[in-house]
Amino acid sequence: MQRDGAVAVIVVDNPPVNALKHEVRAGMLEHFTKAAADNSVEAIVLTGAGRTFMAGADITEFGKPMKPPGLAEVIAAIEKIHKPTIAAVHGTPLGGGLEVTLGCHFRVAAPGTRLGLPEIKLGIIPGAGGTQLLPRLVGVEKGLAMILSGDPIPAKDALAAGLVDEIIEGDLVKGAVAFAKKVIAEKRPLRHVRDLDDKIAPFRAHPDKFNEAAANVSKKSRGLEAPLAAIEAVRAAVTLPVDDGLKRERELFMKLVVGEQSKAQRYIFFAEREAAKIPDMPSGLKPREVARAVVIGAGTMGGGISMSFANAGIPVTVVETNEEALKRGFDTIQKNYQISVQRGALKQEEADRRFALLTGTTSMDAVKDADIVIEAVFEEMEIKKQVFGALDKLAKPNAVLATNTSYLNVDQIAQTTKRPKEVLGTHFFSPANVMKLLEIVRGKETAPDVLATAMAVGRKIGKVPVVVGVCHGFVGNRMLSPRQNQAERLLLEGALPRDVDAAAVEFGFPMGPFAMSDLAGIDVGWRIRKALGTRNEIADQLADKGRYGQKTGRGFYIYEKGSRSPIPDPEVEEIIVAASKRLGIARRVIDKQEIVERLIFPMINEGAKILDEGIAYRASDIDVIWVYGYGWPVWRGGPMYYADHLGLAYVRDQLAKYAKVSGNKSLEPSPLLTRLAAENGSFASFGAKKSAA
Ligand code: CAA
Repeated sequence: MQRDGAVAVIVVDNPPVNALKHEVRAGMLEHFTKAAADNSVEAIVLTGAGRTFMAGADITEFGKPMKPPGLAEVIAAIEKIHKPTIAAVHGTPLGGGLEVTLGCHFRVAAPGTRLGLPEIKLGIIPGAGGTQLLPRLVGVEKGLAMILSGDPIPAKDALAAGLVDEIIEGDLVKGAVAFAKKVIAEKRPLRHVRDLDDKIAPFRAHPDKFNEAAANVSKKSRGLEAPLAAIEAVRAAVTLPVDDGLKRERELFMKLVVGEQSKAQRYIFFAEREAAKIPDMPSGLKPREVARAVVIGAGTMGGGISMSFANAGIPVTVVETNEEALKRGFDTIQKNYQISVQRGALKQEEADRRFALLTGTTSMDAVKDADIVIEAVFEEMEIKKQVFGALDKLAKPNAVLATNTSYLNVDQIAQTTKRPKEVLGTHFFSPANVMKLLEIVRGKETAPDVLATAMAVGRKIGKVPVVVGVCHGFVGNRMLSPRQNQAERLLLEGALPRDVDAAAVEFGFPMGPFAMSDLAGIDVGWRIRKALGTRNEIADQLADKGRYGQKTGRGFYIYEKGSRSPIPDPEVEEIIVAASKRLGIARRVIDKQEIVERLIFPMINEGAKILDEGIAYRASDIDVIWVYGYGWPVWRGGPMYYADHLGLAYVRDQLAKYAKVSGNKSLEPSPLLTRLAAENGSFASFGAKKSAA
């Protein structure tokens, strides 16, 4: 606690993000109590040292016994103070950090501040008054939207919504002290957020609005418990006296925080941060400066990748072989921005600003100016080799040369240049401007600072980068492949596409494997298999008939014009039954549990091989890949976490059983799974041991 005249300034200093661990709560309580009792103090300012005001509860304390004082107790003590209390916030006042400010009479913010209640992303709801106080300050609709999305809002919006009283340009603490002095001089009435009623009163007559919100959320949240609890808590804010509402919020919070969903979501929070750490990087390594990017190819992937750069404010040049392809690519990009504007997700000026960062050309010479080049041309080794040959001749000596291949050998591509150290893979996921995952493929010779640069660029363009090694399909697609194989196999043994898809959706995936094939296009795999001389029993028969999926209105399902809803098709079912017969496979009823396990356990098995080969550094990296790239339900923590949760012996035994039932050797448990299961070990501990080594 410091003093500036009659104003006491309490500074929370717990780097890096001022998380509200026990000592911070105790310290705040002690100093607020002292300042309240000190007659020479006329107002109290609360602020945070370093890069941010408090970014919330200390997540590592969750699931352990809470050491008093609890945050709610600290906030209640602040609320009782009879002199002006002002929270001066900067950086990211989040979760419990924002809740502390709601216990103060006033809030002032530095210009770049982003304020929010992100608890929903951790599978919980705010537990120290957020659901009761925020709607009283900003209204039910805005408050609920912030709580349900978990996304922070900028200071300007917070000012407009009434969450912030003033934006302070220049020195935040000086400005906050000046604000405090103004409040004292004007004898401004003290605003107790808990006593405000005008913004929530109108909702008291419309409890049906909460039912509507709950119905909407149930549809979207795919098994998540926290969103419905959040609606319930905000309903309590409107319908109950404030102290009863706080009690209800606490009950809902407590139930969630000890639950499996939140545990899994907290695991993913830390797994994402762990993925940023590359075990064998020299310390103090600096990424290279990336001020300009070049993307080769204006197709679906190239366009999406280019948008990601432009969205992050990095100028990007797109190179195509001819004007027509270039125009097609730019038209798509413009259309995508326009859709965002129409949806209200982007202001027109912002869309224009981003679009202006994109330049198109048919001359490879553009590569000369690039700090990073990302090749996104047709997925064929010979074409990739030609492109890299050209890049080698044209690019600056220290430019990072990246390929967006999804399957091909990055080392072979690197070898076509005289600078394999500068080459790596950046595997984006479609649509590349939306999907968060970025697999960074580390080649045999990739230089550490090239890897660090790709990681830094990935984060800058809003992705979650995860380093993987070279193998066919890297981590994500390599694990997808056994799942797709089993999905087909299940059809031959007795299931129908809708049975398999329904089981996958019930498990928590956004869509099942067959709906996904229809969306991605059955012809993609069909062409690859044709080139390899292999064949898929059902999918390739459909593709032979021109049933490519959604784009042709028919695939595993039928799609009515303009609709993406799959309708089961008797013709496909006939094809499946005939295939079983031809192959002499007796069709049987396959229950949901078997469907889910046959889809998921082979993925886990492949994940174990990937870990064993060192293609992924840790099991948690694999989980991050599946959550951010393939719609694995976050509340189940990722495939490897899920396997640990079920127990590896169970996964091993089921795989062995299914291998027998279906006569499919590829289902047999992998050596690592077998070993860990025998030792009663886990993938998590295997990853940790390897990292330590
Ligand atoms: N608790 C514990 N550790 C935290 C933390 C938290 N709330 N927030 C961040 N950290 C840790 C990270 O794990 C990371 O540690 P390592 O360096 O060891 O990996 C370090 O702080 C820095 O974090 P980031 O790498 O994420 O830094 P950033 O600058 O990219 O992002 C941030 C900063 C926006 C604050 C981001 O860390 C974040 O979103 N944190 C979580 C915020 C949150 O969810 N708060 C709500 C907590 S729940 C709550 O408050 C419940 C309640 O009602 C009481």
